Amino acid sequence: MEVIKSSLMILALLFLHGAMADSNYNGGLLYFDYYKESCPLAEEIVRRNVEVAVLKEPRMAASLLRLHFHDCFVMGCDASVLLDSYGDIQSEKQAGPNLNSARGFEVIDEIKAILEHACPCTVSCADILALIARDAVELRGGPRWEVGLGRKDSLKASFNGANQFIPAPNSSLDTLIASFQAQGLDIWDLVALSGSHTIGKSRCTSFRQRIYNNMEEEYDYYKRYKIFNGMLRSFCPRSRRDDAVVPLDFITSARFDNKYYINLLQGKGLLGSDNVLITQDHEGHIVKQVWSFASDQRLFFKSFVKSMIKMGSINVLTGEQGEIRRNCRFVNSATPSK
Ligand code: HEM
Ligand SMILES: *[C@@H]1O[C@H](CO)[C@@H](O)[C@H](O)[C@H]1NC(C)=O
Repeated sequence: MEVIKSSLMILALLFLHGAMADSNYNGGLLYFDYYKESCPLAEEIVRRNVEVAVLKEPRMAASLLRLHFHDCFVMGCDASVLLDSYGDIQSEKQAGPNLNSARGFEVIDEIKAILEHACPCTVSCADILALIARDAVELRGGPRWEVGLGRKDSLKASFNGANQFIPAPNSSLDTLIASFQAQGLDIWDLVALSGSHTIGKSRCTSFRQRIYNNMEEEYDYYKRYKIFNGMLRSFCPRSRRDDAVVPLDFITSARFDNKYYINLLQGKGLLGSDNVLITQDHEGHIVKQVWSFASDQRLFFKSFVKSMIKMGSINVLTGEQGEIRRNCRFVNSATPSK
């Protein structure tokens, strides 16, 4: 009782309005001080180790943030993305959106190992992903927020779910809106969370289709896009160099800032899915939001935080559901003996 009373409770319900009366919301509760008694140093341990990983390789911040997104969009934020193929489990890592692309698993292994040493079988892999994403954003100059904790880890992965629910970079705006809606996220969340593409990189293969199409839809945009397009074509030829990487934000790829939105307005959004926010928005609401984020970084940060908290509570397993994995790559009943 005492714990509950003194806890700053997040009623996920407060953040999840409208469409959230559906099956994506399971009524679970997350708590800011969930590990206060059981693992008081948990957040500190995560933070220090994300710092080390990002110092070693700045891009890692982006890769770790993306993992949380790819986790939450497949059966909820339950660390399903971290499971390796083993026994009945077909890993999500081999699904299209993750294959040759999702990275940072070793960093998570390392952090989990340290946490297991400090507080065995206490901190879930799903919570680790949520904390890491928060720290990664802050370490690149982005906003900080309190992360509600208490997620449990899944007992399974969904290879098909990863293919189905993680949106593709050549999606139309309507498809993007629908795939966010399927997770209980709205258009505002889509625009704010796409701002994650202010850091990190993309492979040529993820935007080649876009840079070699005839750009009919992007007609008004073509003039502004032309020089940028030429540069992208020279870097990413029609074939070859599939895995060569280009920064998602050409102006300040190392910083978490609002330049992503300025890029969009200048025709320098890299992915098709970035660009359609501008070119396919027939009603003008999205373009308006892009303008307001482009001109007010604080507003972007505020909206981003709100949407990240919302994304981080999608379909979370709590209480007796799921388990706390000892090794994020395997469910406890199937951990291979060393
Ligand atoms: C709106 C739908 C989205 C689509 C279609 C999309 C697609 C992509 C693609 C294709 C890449 C490049 C992957 C590669 O070529 O290896 C990428 C990178 C990235 N995405 Fe997204 N994304 C979306 C939304 C998000 C969201 C919501 C987040 C985070 C909350 C996010 C975070 C990132 C980050 C940080 C990177 C860089 C990763 C790295 O450098 O390792 N994306 N995204
Ligand atoms: C997107 O790309 C994939 C793979 O290259 C292709 O199969 C699919 O038809 C494309 N979808 C759209 C909407 O262009």
